[in-house]
Amino acid sequence: MKLTGKKQLVSIIKDRIKKEGALSFRDFMDMALYYPELGYYTSPEEKIGGSGDFFTASELDRAYGELLGKQFVEIYEKAGEIDFQIVEIGAGKGYLAYDVLNFLKKNYPDVYKSSQYIIIEKSPYHIKTQKEILEPFNNVRWVQDIIDFEDESITGVIFSNELFDAFPVHIIRKINGKVYEVYISLDEEENVQEILKEPSEEIIRYINELNINIPEGMQTEINLDAADYIQKIGKKLKKGYVITVDYGYPSAELYKPYRMRGTLLCYYRHQYSENFYQNVGMQDITSHVNFSAPQVLWDGLQG
Ligand SMILES: C[S@@+](CC[C@H](N)C(=O)[O-])C[C@H]1O[C@@H](n2cnc3c(N)ncnc32)[C@H](O)[C@@H]1O
Repeated sequence: MKLTGKKQLVSIIKDRIKKEGALSFRDFMDMALYYPELGYYTSPEEKIGGSGDFFTASELDRAYGELLGKQFVEIYEKAGEIDFQIVEIGAGKGYLAYDVLNFLKKNYPDVYKSSQYIIIEKSPYHIKTQKEILEPFNNVRWVQDIIDFEDESITGVIFSNELFDAFPVHIIRKINGKVYEVYISLDEEENVQEILKEPSEEIIRYINELNINIPEGMQTEINLDAADYIQKIGKKLKKGYVITVDYGYPSAELYKPYRMRGTLLCYYRHQYSENFYQNVGMQDITSHVNFSAPQVLWDGLQG
């Protein structure tokens, strides 16, 4: 199968494979979604909504933002702090932030005045739309990365909607009782070839720590980036809550035998497919989140 999609990005990916050898699926997915200016999320085309490739709940009804706003007020009251931070990671077009802020401003002006809404967003295109839509609010600012906060400096809420399902994932396959990791390479005619390699120590540790039992023949995803990110978030929170909303399951459900091909899917103009190597840079690639991962990793962090 040929690698197709944005020509410039396809040739950058091919050149990297020719230079460095086979690329882990995770690194391929990272380039397809986040390569500067050319990746799906980093390029200036519409992604979310009717004229994009998929809908998110943030886009569909104001009620979601208002309910969250109510929850944030409860957390604010519990925190008993005057400086309250709402940190949203991966805010997309900014609709949810708008609904939360609009709700607070109208119904809880004291909370609104004491709060800072801070957005961390990887997509320059989305930052632009966020800045436009959030113009009416004077308490919004943008931070480049979670690591830019000092440790234990956030009091409030760290929030995300459909963030972790957009992280690049490793793909693994179990054959004859052994786990392999999927890499991509090119044959003489430059067709994509999936090849299997030994998984990294991190993948093995993840599988062991989470006690994951992968059925024979299964191909599935391991989201190491999400696990790493959760640890980073944990270090930054002084007092408050992390609320993350996503598609996913606990480990025991995610790796059940009836999900033999895992959960990874592409979305292109509201059609889903498993054609990861087509429309590269033009389609979303997403996988379900393992809800047991934060639990185990968070416990480890506290301990
Ligand atoms: C599936 S979209 C969801 C957008 C929005 N939360 C919504 O509900 O409509 C994922 C968003 O997360 C952003 N994103 C992905 N990885 C990120 C990271 N490490 N830091 C900040 N934003 C990230 C993407 O650029 C994109 O805007």
